[in-house]
Amino acid sequence: MKVAIGSDHGGFEYKGKIIDFLNKNGYEVKDFGTYSNESCDYPEYAHQVAKAVVSGEFDRGILICGTGIGMSIAANKVKGIRAALCSDTFSAHATREHNDSNVLCLGARAIGDELALDIVKVWLETDFSNGERHLRRINMLENV
Ligand code: RB5
Repeated sequence: MKVAIGSDHGGFEYKGKIIDFLNKNGYEVKDFGTYSNESCDYPEYAHQVAKAVVSGEFDRGILICGTGIGMSIAANKVKGIRAALCSDTFSAHATREHNDSNVLCLGARAIGDELALDIVKVWLETDFSNGERHLRRINMLENV
C-alpha cells in the first residue's frame, strides 16, 4: 500500500516516528514535508497529500498537526477526500468501515505517539465494509 504523509511544524517529529513505523511494516511511504521544526502553514501540506491521494498515486494519506483539526479541515476541502481526525482506535476502525476514510489526521499535541501508532495500524489494516447504506451516505457527501 502506498501512503502519502505530511505535517506542519507541530507534527514534524511525530511524523518521523510514523514514517519509521510504516517503513518497518512494509508500506511504501512518501514524505511531503514539512522537513524541519520551522513554523509553516498546515494547509500547504494538507493540500499536497490530499491531491496525491485523489490523483490515485497513493492509496491513503496521513496528516499531522498540533491538534489534527487544521489538517482535517484543509484536507476535507479537496473533492474526493474523506479525512478523519482520530484520537482512539475505535474511531479509526469505524471510520474505515463506515466512511471509507482515505486520509487519517492526528494531533501531535493531543495524543501520545504510541497511541498514534496503534491508531495508524488499525486505520491502515481495516477495510471498508462496502455496506449499501454506507456507500449511499458516502455518495451523498459529494453531492452538496
Ligand atoms: C500550529 O501552531 C497549530 O496551529 C497547528 O499545528 C494546528 O494545530 C492547527 O490546526
